[in-house]
Amino acid sequence: MTLRLAILASGRGSNLQAILDAIAAGTLDAQVVGVFSDQPAAQALHRVPAPLRWARRVKDFANREAFDAALADAIAAVTPDWIVCAGYMRILGAAFVERFPARILNIHPSLLPKYKGLHTHQRAIDAGDDEHGASVHLVNAELDGGAVLAQSRVPVLPGDDAESLAARVLQVEHPLYVEVLRMLASGRLVEQDGLPLLDGHPAYTPLRLEFAHS
Ligand code: GAR
Repeated sequence: MTLRLAILASGRGSNLQAILDAIAAGTLDAQVVGVFSDQPAAQALHRVPAPLRWARRVKDFANREAFDAALADAIAAVTPDWIVCAGYMRILGAAFVERFPARILNIHPSLLPKYKGLHTHQRAIDAGDDEHGASVHLVNAELDGGAVLAQSRVPVLPGDDAESLAARVLQVEHPLYVEVLRMLASGRLVEQDGLPLLDGHPAYTPLRLEFAHS
């Protein structure tokens, strides 16, 4: 089944580019049906043709809920199978999440449940962790709190700072997100009642996937 993907992005869009590259290479059976942003200047928008772009500023709406409602309407209009947050840096409100039950994915730069929220790389360094990584999870109303589908680990190396560690994590984020989407497209991974089923069995712990990194 060709997955219809609505991508939410606030910035650079390197995860979006990894998804686009996999589609172009024929290794992911999916179609990006729209890129949606709260940042009209986001680089991510320019990775797709203009008709696929939607961007609005929150401050142009009466409140956050009104922005979320406009965003949700625009997304619903392109009938996606999955809403894929790829560096979307705004919290999705409860009404938005409830409108697309268990149809929203996010990639988060930590080994959830560790380090929900921001500054994950610095927090891993400050805690003295020797490993760190990225997680792909279902989005629910709790920040970074939905079921984790898959994770990929990287070491924290002596001398790392937040920037060097973020760069290492990003190297595994790209193949991790693509691989999860591939498993969803093939039907190996399905969502049932907010929990992932892998090959027909409940996945009680996140899949651990390994990818090359420097
Ligand atoms: C990625 O590292 C992603 O995990 C992170 O933002 C970066 C976006 O990069 N997301 C979050 O922190 C979400 N809370 P990209 O725009 O190049 O894909």
